[in-house]
Amino acid sequence: MTTATAPAKIILFGEHAVVYGRPAIAVPITHVQASATVEGGPPGSGCTLIANDVNRTVRLADAAPNDPLAAIVRVTLKRLNAPEPDVTITIHSTIPIASGMGSGAAVSTAIARALAAHLGHSLNNETASSLVFEVEKLYHGMPSGIDNTVIAHARPLFFVKNKFIETFVLKSPLHILIADTGIRSSTKVVVGDVRAVWEADRERYDKLFMSIGQISVMARASLETGEQSALGALMDGNHWLLRQVGVSSSELDRLVQAAREAGALGAKLSGAGRGGNMIALVTEEAQTAVAEAMQQAGAKSVIPTVVS
Ligand code: PMV
Repeated sequence: MTTATAPAKIILFGEHAVVYGRPAIAVPITHVQASATVEGGPPGSGCTLIANDVNRTVRLADAAPNDPLAAIVRVTLKRLNAPEPDVTITIHSTIPIASGMGSGAAVSTAIARALAAHLGHSLNNETASSLVFEVEKLYHGMPSGIDNTVIAHARPLFFVKNKFIETFVLKSPLHILIADTGIRSSTKVVVGDVRAVWEADRERYDKLFMSIGQISVMARASLETGEQSALGALMDGNHWLLRQVGVSSSELDRLVQAAREAGALGAKLSGAGRGGNMIALVTEEAQTAVAEAMQQAGAKSVIPTVVS
C-alpha cells in the first residue's frame, strides 16, 4: 500500500495578473490536504479510483477523456511508460472544492505521486507539477500554472508564468484567516470573463495587471523582511485592483471590510474571485475578533492557518 499527500494552497498576491505574465505569490497550506492511497488488486482487475468525499468511483477503462481523476492516472502512466496497473486508488481530501484552495491540483498531485511510488518511481517536483498542469488545462482552460507549481513544491513561491519559479523563505510566520463565501466559483468562467474585458480594453487592463505585478514584487520584499503591516497594506491595494478588474463580489467585499474593521492588517480575495475565499492577515491577538467579525459578515467557514 502506498500513500502520498499534497497540500492546499492560497494565492497571496497576483491572481489574474499572473495569467498575463505578471508575478504572483502563492503559499502552501499544509494542514488542509489531499491524500491518495494505492493498493494492488487481483490480476486483470484494472485501475479503479474511489473518491468517497465526492461520491465518485471511476474505472479507468470506462472513464471519459476529460475526467480529471482518470486523466492524471493516464498522464502519469504515459510519463512512466507503464501499462494500466491492477490497483485501487482511494482519494480523500479536506480541501474545500472550487473555492480557490487548489483542491483539484492537490488531488492530482497526490494521485500522481502515490501511483508513481507504487510503480517504483519517485516524481521530482518539476515532473509532478508538469503532469498536474496537463490535467489542469482540461478543466481550467488556460491556467497560469501557479497552482500545480506551488502544490508540487509545497513551499512559498514567487512565480512568473513560463519564466520564473522561485521558492523563498518567510522571515516570520504569517497568521492568515481563510474565509469562505460559500459561493462556488468556476475559475475557467472568471478567467474567460477577464479575457473578454481585456480584449475589449487592453490598455486599461494591462495597467491594472502591471500594478498588481508591482504589488507582488513589493510583497515578496516585505515577506522576506517580515514587515507585516506593509504586507497588510499591499493586500488591501491588491484587493482594490482586483475590484477594478471586476472579479470581486459584494460577499467578498463584505468579508474584506469586516476583517479590516475588526483589526486585520490587510485583506483581499484569493483565487479566481466572484465567490470562493478571501484571506485576512492578522496578528495573533486580533485573530479571534477578526474571525468572529467575518463569521458575522456571512463567512460560511473560517480556517485559521499559520504560513511559515
Ligand atoms: O481559483 P484558483 O485558486 O485556482 O486561482 C486561479 C488563479 C488565476 O490567476 C485566476 C488563474 C490562474 O490560472 O492563475
